[in-house]
Amino acid sequence: MKALCWHGKHDIRCDTVPDPTIQHPRDAIIKVTSCAICGSDLHIYDGVIPGMERGDVLGHETMGEVVEVGAEVTNLKPGDRVVVPFTISCGECFFCKRGWFSGCERSNPNHETAEKLWGHSPAGLFGYSHILGGYAGGQAEFLRVPFADVGPIKVPSSLTDDQVLFLSDIFPTGYMAAENCNIQPGDTIAVWGAGPVGLFAIRSAFLLGAERVISIDTVAERLALSEAAGAITIDFKHEDVYEKIQDLTHGRGADACIDAVGTEADVTASADSILDRVKVATFMGTDRPHVLRQVIHCCRNFGTVSIVGVYGGFVDKIPMGSAINRGLTFRMAQTPVQHYLPKLLERVEKGEIDPSFVITHHAPLAEGPAMYKTFRDKQDGCVKVVLKP
Ligand SMILES: NC(=O)c1ccc[n+]([C@@H]2O[C@H](COP(=O)([O-])OP(=O)(O)OC[C@H]3O[C@@H](n4cnc5c(N)ncnc54)[C@H](O)[C@@H]3O)[C@@H](O)[C@H]2O)c1
Ligand SMILES: [Zn+2]
Ligand SMILES: [Zn+2]
Repeated sequence: MKALCWHGKHDIRCDTVPDPTIQHPRDAIIKVTSCAICGSDLHIYDGVIPGMERGDVLGHETMGEVVEVGAEVTNLKPGDRVVVPFTISCGECFFCKRGWFSGCERSNPNHETAEKLWGHSPAGLFGYSHILGGYAGGQAEFLRVPFADVGPIKVPSSLTDDQVLFLSDIFPTGYMAAENCNIQPGDTIAVWGAGPVGLFAIRSAFLLGAERVISIDTVAERLALSEAAGAITIDFKHEDVYEKIQDLTHGRGADACIDAVGTEADVTASADSILDRVKVATFMGTDRPHVLRQVIHCCRNFGTVSIVGVYGGFVDKIPMGSAINRGLTFRMAQTPVQHYLPKLLERVEKGEIDPSFVITHHAPLAEGPAMYKTFRDKQDGCVKVVLKP
């Protein structure tokens, strides 16, 4: 089959690789009809995620048609149309039973490596580093889905691929980011990053009752989509983010602040951004947490900092003094997608949100390598790419 494979920093190729096969009775094989490139894939593309190996198949936002199931998969049959969560979860362990699917303690075969780095291992993920299992991803013609009796959700034929594909990751992620803000009537929620995840966080914050949402980015097309969703926008390259949020909140700060940027914050946004870049380049640091610092700075006393932008290692110069003295709450996770899927599918079916609003580009799988660059560089108005194998 054809698949997008990682060969090194900024080197992704559309290779021919062996078709996946059933390896366990709980596996299913999916013929991929649509897959997407995520902001998290850009961290791999830019070489900031450790544990990648040449030839790894990328991709974790995938849907398609079931073509084969293992003996123990009784809820799916060939022909079913499903969306596949990016988190691989057994459904039975301590964490899965509590709904914390992305903390599954049984789906990462390389848990010992993760434990050395992070103390404990989270769930395995598709197409995302051998530290998280080294599972082949779904930017491919076919995908092997482990624990297929737990993850994939069947979707009705009345909804198009474009309307349901993002249930695999970015819609639940944006929704979780907003839900973790514990939104109360009258709240102002500030969202850093108006990429696909930030845009879903904005729409979700309104769905969950926020009175105002402030969107911070610098890319014109993305700020326009924030505005279309009803947000007030701040261009971080031309305005002072802290001052503007102070003005908008009577000097109190935002009730909750969402970091939907993560480790690859714009290098030129501020002096600390430049310093972070230098430290990473000289192996003095692992991440570029400028946005995390600003999010804490802009949050009101006893407010919530909700983090969905991904960080990898040991972040430096985080203002803990500000956080402890002002009583901030921190919430964050790789999204336990299975926990959110059924209720978000219901919202799509009811027409409360049409997730296809973020899509700017459709392309065949073979154009995937070029599309990674277009998406990373935000060229040609690119906000979200859907690939058709
Ligand atoms: N927690 C999860 O489960 C989960 C799931 C999906 C994605 N993510 C993460 O969410 C983040 C965003 O993903 P995406 O797909 O929207 O990516 P993206 O790269 O398209 O969007 C990031 C946006 O942040 C903006 N930005 C950069 N520096 C900024 C700054 N200083 N202030 C404000 N905005 C700034 C960029 O202009 C860009 O529009 C990534 O880190 C990704 O890894 C996490
Ligand atoms: Zn993702
Ligand atoms: Zn589990």
